[in-house]
Amino acid sequence: MSMQSTTSAEIGVQSIQSEAELFLARFAEETGMEEIAARRREVLAEITATGTYSHTREELIHGAKMAWRNANRCIGRLFWNRMHVFDERGAASEQEVFDALLRHLAFATNGGEIRPAITILPQAGEGRESFRIWNHQLLRYAGYESTAGIVGDPASVGFTRICERLGWRGEGTPFDLLPLAVQHGGKPPRLFEIPRTHALEVPLSHPDRDVFAGFSAKWYAVPVISDMLLEIGGIRYPAAPFNGWYMGTEIGSRNLGDEARYNLLPRVAVNLGLDTSSNATLWKDRALVELNAAVLHSYRLAGVTIVDHHTAAQQFSIFERNEEKAGRDVTGRWSWLIPPMSPSATSVFHKSYEDRIVSPQFIHQNPPYA
Ligand code: ARG
Repeated sequence: MSMQSTTSAEIGVQSIQSEAELFLARFAEETGMEEIAARRREVLAEITATGTYSHTREELIHGAKMAWRNANRCIGRLFWNRMHVFDERGAASEQEVFDALLRHLAFATNGGEIRPAITILPQAGEGRESFRIWNHQLLRYAGYESTAGIVGDPASVGFTRICERLGWRGEGTPFDLLPLAVQHGGKPPRLFEIPRTHALEVPLSHPDRDVFAGFSAKWYAVPVISDMLLEIGGIRYPAAPFNGWYMGTEIGSRNLGDEARYNLLPRVAVNLGLDTSSNATLWKDRALVELNAAVLHSYRLAGVTIVDHHTAAQQFSIFERNEEKAGRDVTGRWSWLIPPMSPSATSVFHKSYEDRIVSPQFIHQNPPYA
């Protein structure tokens, strides 16, 4: 064996080569593609010449779906093969990205019948000017720090401050939609206000109790995660916003129930007339159930797709069976897969999962501000 010195650029090329080869082999196997040798040669030649390569549209589409299938934290993966992929790799300006994001929102919202979708913006690397979306989700509510406490979503306080520094001013309600912050290359981001027509929202109510007395709550219809990086075959897409539909507990238990979010349990408990003087009355648990019931009821009433956690867990079991039949391992992160209400009443609670990284994948990346 000889010792060789390798530069970091060469290491990069080597790993993009091996990642590309692995991906192409899986892609060919899963899609029944026969002529893989020619495509493999073509990709390797492109990497040698330019340091990177580009995916065909078919590779991009299937690769993005595989990334969803491999998302260890997601309980909704049964539908991985039914995601619409917008190939927006040609977007060349912040305005073009914004236009693409509006098309995504319109398609995904679909008048309430939510459709899973992903918009894939230009890849990073080799001196390319890619984009970053600074928002955590395309639709999210601002959070303002005031002397009387936080107004709005506490999770958005940092990003809201950034938007204000960039010249944005919100109305100051608890549910102000944040603007989109789109960054091109090393430039400062451009802010865009999302038109109301593209941000469907659901007013929340309970089927028979006034749990929101004194605080009219609402939530948006579509969760579009916009800050994760999509990696396919060694190629990185730092902006690739994607959505499914909501599982009720994301809103009822976490967004509205968490103490560090909208913290509505005490209010709901009082509105329900519960005895909050002792933990042992289980007032938090009772309030949680009614808050979650209100979310499911309201989305249903508004004709907006939502899934309860029992059904989602059953769907996940079907996904597990499908994957087993296809000869693939299901990886997962148990602490994320179990729903944040009555977890032990679902099957995922009673199983264990291997939290191993499988490519293609969605990866957390550091916020570009901070
Ligand atoms: N948990 C996040 C939220 O409440 C959304 C994450 C993605 N959820 C989904 N159902 N696709 O906004």
